[in-house]
Amino acid sequence: KKERTLAMIKPDAVAKMGAIIEMILSSDLTITKMKMVALTRKEAVDFYVEHQTKTFFNDLINFMISGPVIAMEILGDESVCAWRKLLGPTNSSTARSESPNSIRAKFGTDGTKNAAHGSDSVASAARELEFFFPTSGGRGPPNTA
Ligand code: CMP
Repeated sequence: KKERTLAMIKPDAVAKMGAIIEMILSSDLTITKMKMVALTRKEAVDFYVEHQTKTFFNDLINFMISGPVIAMEILGDESVCAWRKLLGPTNSSTARSESPNSIRAKFGTDGTKNAAHGSDSVASAARELEFFFPTSGGRGPPNTA
């Protein structure tokens, strides 16, 4: 079933965006929207609000505002799952042993600096896509790509 998901290249991997985008383009997934954005602290906190009680939250927020991120809307069959499979395990160290060809294995560092993000469900994808690509109230023409 065709789904949309939110993919985000994190600050540690923006310098390697070319290789990551090549991996997506050579998969069965389609990039339908893309933007580079420097998140404010408030925006990063809002995006990751579900993790606000976690011990790693402050490190995560400081990391996410250390440089720009690239947000992408990804379209494809079961794209939530398919994108997370390309990403590999959350921790890049784990990814290097369990899924060495994955994006997190190849471009991430550790449990926090893990190169990229993917929505964990269709519901999260809807919220996260609206966060980066609001469908109403914005200026300019509607994006129908
Ligand atoms: P992401 O998939 O974007 O979702 C939440 C993020 O928090 C995760 O990637 C990591 O960047 C970070 N994270 C998750 N678990 C941990 C952890 N145990 N220790 C440190 N950072 C974590």
